[in-house]
Amino acid sequence: MQTLSRDAAAVKSPLLEVSRVSLSYELEKEKLDVISDVSFGLCKDEFLGIVAPSGAGKSSLLRIISGLQRPTGGEVRVKGKVIHSPVDEVFMIFQNFALLPWKNVLENVLLALLCKDLPEEVRRQKALKAIEDVNLKGFEKAYPGELSGGMKQRVGIARALALEPQILLMDEPFSSLDPLTADHLRVEFYSLLISQESPIQAVVMVSHNVEEVVELADRALVLSDRPSRVVQDVKIGLPRPRNKKSQEFYEYTDRIYSLLT
Ligand SMILES: Nc1ncnc2c1ncn2[C@@H]1O[C@H](COP(=O)(O)OP(=O)(O)O)[C@@H](O)[C@H]1O
Ligand SMILES: [Mg+2]
Repeated sequence: MQTLSRDAAAVKSPLLEVSRVSLSYELEKEKLDVISDVSFGLCKDEFLGIVAPSGAGKSSLLRIISGLQRPTGGEVRVKGKVIHSPVDEVFMIFQNFALLPWKNVLENVLLALLCKDLPEEVRRQKALKAIEDVNLKGFEKAYPGELSGGMKQRVGIARALALEPQILLMDEPFSSLDPLTADHLRVEFYSLLISQESPIQAVVMVSHNVEEVVELADRALVLSDRPSRVVQDVKIGLPRPRNKKSQEFYEYTDRIYSLLT
């Protein structure tokens, strides 16, 4: 993403459109309504944070957006086309890293590239470059069991960079990390995303962590508890880099907290 100033966003056509999405799970004895009529759009150069309480259906919503899961109602469009299965333009980073423990770092990144029709050497070069970009050079042959949580999530981010999706989805990517590691990785990750070379054009991150969303996002979509619906779409008009100790930062977090409760 070259610039994250959002002024022109309103006139652009959305990269991603979520239209009236609903979801119910059929349990043995009852129906569990999880998502209720959620709609929003995402334009190029936007970082959208979706905030909702635990159990509100955030992971389910991201799986629907990624095409891994079908909604009960409504639809998702990527660049105008309704999706029915995963598409090349969209890639997801998971909360629990989703690494194969019996594959090393390089192999885990290469796995994500298998679906790309590229010569083996090109895949390898892309994977090595992404590993270097996330500061894991030297750990190509290490196995997930030998890595800290922060390093594992770096592998997740390397996969996303290597795959070059236009839309990146992140499911609470920092929530399994200790607070200090999470703080560092958030800052580093954001600067990787907005680097000139980054192919990523827009991000959707779900989180139950309000501070994290105010730190990173241009817009916060606040969802209610299950069955989740949109409470408010809050534009976060704070300059970057964001000062977590400023009065304005506190005002945004406070406002979003009160919308959540
Ligand atoms: N595959 C599934 N089958 C049945 N219920 C599910 C399934 N996945 C999630 N749920 C339930 O749906 C609700 C929302 O889950 P989830 O999308 O994981 O929420 P969140 O990510 O916001 O914590 C929870 O009550 C969860 O137990
Ligand atoms: Mg979840």
